Amino acid sequence: MEMTQWWRGSEDILLLQGAVRSGKSYGASIAYIMWSMFQFNNCEFIFVGQTYNAIMRNVIYRLISVIKGTFKVTLNKSEGFMTVQCTVNGIVRKNTYWIFGGGKDGDHFKLVGSTMSGAFIDEAVLCTRDVFEECKARCALEPNAKIWGTLNPRQPSHWLHTEYIKKAEEQNVKVMLFFPEDNPAMSQAAIEKLHRSFTGVYYDRNVKNLWVAGDGLLFQIIADDPERYQLKGNIPAFSRINIGVDWGDGKSEQSLTATGILPNYSGVVALRSVKKDVKGLDHTKIMQSVVDFTQGIQRDFGKVSILMCDVPNTNINSARTAIREAGLNIPVDRAYKPPIEERIPVIGRMLGLDMIKYIQGESDNVKTALAEVVHCPKNPEVWDDTGTSDINSLDSFFYGWSDNMSQFSRIRSSELGGRVA
Ligand SMILES: Nc1ncnc2c1ncn2[C@@H]1O[C@H](COP(=O)(O)OP(=O)(O)OP(=O)(O)O)[C@@H](O)[C@H]1O
Ligand SMILES: [Mg+2]
Repeated sequence: MEMTQWWRGSEDILLLQGAVRSGKSYGASIAYIMWSMFQFNNCEFIFVGQTYNAIMRNVIYRLISVIKGTFKVTLNKSEGFMTVQCTVNGIVRKNTYWIFGGGKDGDHFKLVGSTMSGAFIDEAVLCTRDVFEECKARCALEPNAKIWGTLNPRQPSHWLHTEYIKKAEEQNVKVMLFFPEDNPAMSQAAIEKLHRSFTGVYYDRNVKNLWVAGDGLLFQIIADDPERYQLKGNIPAFSRINIGVDWGDGKSEQSLTATGILPNYSGVVALRSVKKDVKGLDHTKIMQSVVDFTQGIQRDFGKVSILMCDVPNTNINSARTAIREAGLNIPVDRAYKPPIEERIPVIGRMLGLDMIKYIQGESDNVKTALAEVVHCPKNPEVWDDTGTSDINSLDSFFYGWSDNMSQFSRIRSSELGGRVA
C-alpha cells in the first residue's frame, strides 16, 4: 500500500530494496503506471533495466498482461517504447514509456535528450551510475517527476549503497525493504526452496536483504559437508554427456571434465575430471590426451554429445581434427564463458538445491575445487584466480554445462507455488 502512495510525500526517489522474488518489480511497475497515468497526460517516461531483454522479461511483458484490461497498451518493440492510454470522463489520456538497457558503460548516452516525467529503474544496482544520474537529470525539470528503483543488495561499497541508501535523507530518497514472505504469490514450499537456493554471501544479500561483501570460502555449503554431494547408488540416465576442456599453459595444468546433464535440467553429475601437466608436451600429444579422455568416457559412461573448449581457437580447431581423425563423430565447440560474477550465484544455487553431484574416485577434483575456492580479496564479486585453489577444474566442469546456465538458474513459475502464470 505504501508503495502506491509514497509519491504524495516530499521524496523524489523511491528505492525498493529487497530479497529476490519478493514482488518488488511486479508491484512497483504497476504502481508506477497507475501514478504516471493519473498524474500526467501526454508525457514521457523511462523504463530501464540491466539490458533491454532483461527489462522486457522481468517487467514489461508481465506488466502489460496485468494492465491491459484497464489501459490500452501499444508496444513498439523495434523502436523500444510503449504507449499507455485510457479514457477518463470522455477525455483520452496517453503517455509514452521509453524502454532501455542500462548496465553497460555508455548506455546513458541513449537517455540523453528530452525531459522525462519519471523513471523506473529495475535492478538499479546492475545499472551504471551514469544511467542513474542521467535518469535524475532527465527528470530534474519536471517538478512532480519521481524515480522508482528496485534492487537486491550487493557489496556495501556499491555506489547506490554509499551515495543514496546511506544518505537517504540528504538525497531525498525513500527506502522500502522487502522480504520473500511479502510476495503473496509465493507458497510456503516456494519460500523454503528459495531459502535453499542461496548460500553464503548470496543468502545474506538475496534472502536476508543485507549489504555484505564476500569473504573467505565461496561455497561453504560443500566445504562443510562434501559427502552430501557424492553420488550414491547407480549412475542415473542423462539427457547428454558433455566434456569441458580447459587448456593448460606454462603455469596452469590442463583440465578435462565430463559432466552428465540430468533430464529437464534438474541437475548435473561430474563424471570424471583429470588434470595434466602439459608444459613439456607437443601439440599432437595434447590433442591425443583429449581423444583418450573422450574415448574413456564413451567406454565407461556412454555417448558423448559435445566437447566444449576454452579458447584459443587454434586449439579448438586442432581438437576437432583430432577427434574426427580418431573416428569419433562428436562436435567440438567453443565454451560459453559468461563473467565469473554471473557464474558464482548459479553454482551456489545449484549446490543449495543439491543439483550438483560428483563421483568418488572419478571427479574428486571438482568437489575439491568447489570446496576450496575463495572470494578474490580485491574484488569479492569474483573468485580468486591466483593459485589459491583449482580454478582449472572449476572451469572445465562449468564449460560442460555453461551453455545451459539459464535453464539451471531459472526459477520456474511452478516453483512459485503454481499460482502465477
Ligand atoms: N502481489 C502479487 N500478486 C501476484 N503475483 C505476484 C505479486 N507479487 C509478485 N508476484 C509474482 O511473483 C514473482 C516475483 O515477483 P517480482 O519479479 O516482482 O520479484 P522481485 O522482488 O522483483 O524479484 P527479483 O529481486 O528477483 O527481481 C513474479 O512472477 C510475479 O508475477
Ligand atoms: Mg525484480
